[in-house]
Amino acid sequence: MNQTTTSDHDKDLTVTHETGPRTFDGFTLGSATAAYQIEGGAAEGGRTPSIWDTYSHTPGVTEFGHTGDVADDHFHRWPEDVEHIAALGLDAYRLSISWSRVQPGGTGPLNPEGVRFYVDLLDALNAAGVDPVVTLYHWDLPQELEDAGGWPVRATAEAFATYARLMAIELGDRVHTWTTLNEPWCSSYLGYASGVHAPGRTEPAAALAAVHHLNLAHGLAVRAIRDVLPQARVSVTLNFHVVRPQDPSSAADLDAVDQIDALANGAFTGPMLEGAYPERLAGDTAGITDWSFVQEGDLEAIHQPLTVLGVNYYSTTMVRHSPVGDTSSDNSGHRESAHTPWVGADRVAFVREPGPYTAMGWNIDAGALTDLLVDLTRRYPALPTMVTENGAAFEDEVSADGRVHDPRRVSYLHDHVAAVDAAREAGADVRGYFAWSLLDNFEWAWGYERRFGIIRVDYSTLERTWKDSAHWYRRLIATRELPG
Ligand code: NOJ
Repeated sequence: MNQTTTSDHDKDLTVTHETGPRTFDGFTLGSATAAYQIEGGAAEGGRTPSIWDTYSHTPGVTEFGHTGDVADDHFHRWPEDVEHIAALGLDAYRLSISWSRVQPGGTGPLNPEGVRFYVDLLDALNAAGVDPVVTLYHWDLPQELEDAGGWPVRATAEAFATYARLMAIELGDRVHTWTTLNEPWCSSYLGYASGVHAPGRTEPAAALAAVHHLNLAHGLAVRAIRDVLPQARVSVTLNFHVVRPQDPSSAADLDAVDQIDALANGAFTGPMLEGAYPERLAGDTAGITDWSFVQEGDLEAIHQPLTVLGVNYYSTTMVRHSPVGDTSSDNSGHRESAHTPWVGADRVAFVREPGPYTAMGWNIDAGALTDLLVDLTRRYPALPTMVTENGAAFEDEVSADGRVHDPRRVSYLHDHVAAVDAAREAGADVRGYFAWSLLDNFEWAWGYERRFGIIRVDYSTLERTWKDSAHWYRRLIATRELPG
């Protein structure tokens, strides 16, 4: 073990690097983006509005009123972006499809121009030797479907399955791995309970109905994809909450952990991977809903075999029991926690984790990623995992030499890739790692005020510049070895 301090002005950020060369042969090293965060071209090529267009155009909901209208202009600049992807040497690139670009309104006929955009992009990626990992839903529900009730209603899950089937038909084997949903925790709890994400509703019962219909959408979509492409590799990406008790010797704090684990993790892994909701969920949420929207056959439909499980990981969560139901207390600076997405957890308080923190205010804890991955293999030994997102926002500056020196991001990525390696050493079946994100982009309610990219985007010129982290990542991919 040796200790490295990243730079003088980051004195508080002392990181521990394991020694010894680590090899990543046969392991997928990629990077990820999402449609609404990078594409722009919001009203072009036949695309109709999604809930994020409506929400971001609502005064006061995003930082400085930022919207995804232009974003990184990837809609026009994708050939250049594919060149960056190829120059980085990425094994795989994770992107998402804008549902309302390919199927305006979310039902009915496809929009050939929208489909063509993705066909061309996927062809270019495949031609460059990059495996496309395609997410069907990264939060941008067609507005018409929200107007008809959104994720709290069953018809949305059925519409999603039709959309998934159509994409399987149109895109077929251009896609290396399909991902049904990205972080349904955010779509349900942040979209419908706390309202800090689109569509901005604050209706706890609707949030729990959304949880179920997102689960159902996943299961129906897996079936639909496999109907068309029996050999398809299919996955889902979940943002696992690594929840810890403030006082590990307190039974009440341990119960708070269990409660949050059931709401945040089990509400999705239960039905998707085990065929049942966690036992305590019905009791914990009894004052909010009776779960009568769960129909016969739903759990069987949701519980589909998967090829790989996508894991998004950024930071950890600490909780304690709170007799007064202080659910709005601090949670490592998570903007969302200030608005209490935790329906049914009214005796839990969130405790600020020790630092260091990223610019999101999220604590940095690479070791927790190792624990998470080891634990997932222990619980689901037949299901390989893939880290589909990991990365950090920091306050980047362009130096006098025109470069972006981002040692904290390099350290963050280094330590988390090392954490993945440690998990593999300990027996976790992890197959890949995707850095979030390829490009600076629209960070949802934070607009363009938080930069996660390994490539900087100048929002006045839309010019792309590799940060030091991009150079570092290219070297890692080329050498397949993580320097000590
Ligand atoms: C997870 C989301 O999938 C992604 O869209 C977001 O930008 C990152 N986390 C960072 O917050």
